Amino acid sequence: MPGYKIAVLPGDGIGPEVTREAERAMIAAAQAFNFEIELEHWPIGGTALDKFDTPFPDATREACLAADAIFLGAIGDPKWDHETGARRCEAALLALRKALGGYANLRPVIVPESLLDASPLRPECVSGTDLLIVRELTGGIYFGEPRSSAEDVAANNMVYTRSEVERIARMAFSIAEKRRGHLTSVDKANVLEVSQLWRSVVTEIHESEFPNVELEHLYVDNAAIQLILHPSQFDVILTGNLFGDILSDLAGTLPGSLGILPSASFGGLVDLYEPVHGSAPDIAGKGCANPGGALLSIVMLLQRLGEMEAGARLQDGIIKTLEEGVLTRDLGGTASTTEFADAVLSRAFNFAPTAA
Ligand code: NAD
Ligand code: IPM
Ligand code: MN
Repeated sequence: MPGYKIAVLPGDGIGPEVTREAERAMIAAAQAFNFEIELEHWPIGGTALDKFDTPFPDATREACLAADAIFLGAIGDPKWDHETGARRCEAALLALRKALGGYANLRPVIVPESLLDASPLRPECVSGTDLLIVRELTGGIYFGEPRSSAEDVAANNMVYTRSEVERIARMAFSIAEKRRGHLTSVDKANVLEVSQLWRSVVTEIHESEFPNVELEHLYVDNAAIQLILHPSQFDVILTGNLFGDILSDLAGTLPGSLGILPSASFGGLVDLYEPVHGSAPDIAGKGCANPGGALLSIVMLLQRLGEMEAGARLQDGIIKTLEEGVLTRDLGGTASTTEFADAVLSRAFNFAPTAA
């Protein structure tokens, strides 16, 4: 029987609440499809800082590097916002991403018919949305050197090297080839030298390796409005770290909630799965967080592990649950986090186990 060791990092705020449902989904999938899954919890973020005086303990890093895959809930809370440098919760997440090296962060956005009314946009605008944001995750302004902070001036650098752009462009084009064959590269080449390099490298990779994919370039400000006005025009959106962060939250408006967007980071030592949303301090502890983004991240994890049938069943369970109108508060419903997950797991696997 195949077996997988998953490092589980619940984190802060609603992180543990959605992680609990992600774990139940993995357990149910393993039982239904005869594989073994070993789930081990590791601390990260503010919860780790309070207990171990660091938001990213060495033991967490080592466990992640030794796992077959990693699931992370969310990190951060205003109560730790006074921390600086490596003691910040967000620094722990960035250090994890850098340690793994997963440079390609895939953030799919679909709007199922059942969510057309949950979207704040008109149904005819969002209908048919099925896009994938490929966000560069280990470079750009998040990691550019030098960086500095003093009382009256602070600076960060947006830096991309040719090889960083080449590898993310190759990944995005090869995904676009298997989808609808269209790629939109998003940058700010009308102003930034770093974007001019980005644009010319993406164009070179297109011409020399993927001429069969249709390539379009958009400036990030225009991309933001196009995403809202006419999202179904997009297939794959390729962009850098900062623009990808902002555009993916914006894309959360399309299905009606950021809470149902999943993500996976590939290309590094171990793949990392995390919902796109954060720790949502405004709703933490209330039992109403949408676990959809966490559950769809598990769909991506199962597919990547080769458990295709289990992944497909979980995805169908999520879509059916939404279709039947079982919705959490962010989508206009009344279901709790656990009630939504129960509905998904019973539809997907006829089974809703309690968490490990
Ligand atoms: P957020 O994503 O936590 O919340 C933004 C809004 O979306 C809030 O109104 C929240 O209630 C809502 N929301 C988010 N997830 C939801 C869910 N699953 N169900 C229902 N509603 C949901 O962003 P924020 O408030 O700007 O950030 C809070 C903290 O989270 C910060 O410390 C930030 O740094 C951190 N953060 C962490 C991650 C991560 O761990 N991957 C991602 C983003 C933000
Ligand atoms: C995300 C988050 C993170 C990011 C933060 C918490 C470091 O917003 O995953 O989208 O900016 O990458
Ligand atoms: Mn973000």
